[in-house]
Amino acid sequence: TERTFSIIKPDATRRNLTGKVNAVIEDAGLRIVAQRRIQMTEDQAKKFYEVHAERPFYGELVEFMTSAPVVVQVLEGENAVARYREVMGATNPKDAAPGTIRALYAENVGENSVHGSDSQENARLEIAQFFTDADIVG
Ligand code: GTP
Ligand code: MG
Repeated sequence: TERTFSIIKPDATRRNLTGKVNAVIEDAGLRIVAQRRIQMTEDQAKKFYEVHAERPFYGELVEFMTSAPVVVQVLEGENAVARYREVMGATNPKDAAPGTIRALYAENVGENSVHGSDSQENARLEIAQFFTDADIVG
């Protein structure tokens, strides 16, 4: 069994969709083993998306991620990293498969409702940015 890191983004919390997103996650067989609603600071968002610092949308992305509360989560299950990427759907909701979180709820390529780690190594690093071992109850 494996863990991944998830964020329910501001566009989704703003529209009161936390429960609906969680339902898709749980229906897919992933377990929410840690969860906290937070207001991300600018420093947190900048650090979290540091890999995109050179991209033209970086400023917009940091502004978006701090524009309303987010829900940070640890998800657990078999092949959780790949499984959750599947459940989220493509970055751009126009390309997202039917039934995926982004097809159901995302507004556009930027405001796309959820984040999920893209590798097991990044999952470990991202989880450690927001949770201690004691926060995670499997
Ligand atoms: P994450 O799970 O959030 O990392 O999404 P991803 O892995 O599907 O996409 P990627 O890591 O390439 O991009 C990170 C985030 O940057 C995306 O989820 C979007 O919120 C945002 N983003 C990506 N491309 C664009 C873009 O062209 N314009 C804007 N405004 N935002 C973008
Ligand atoms: Mg990514």
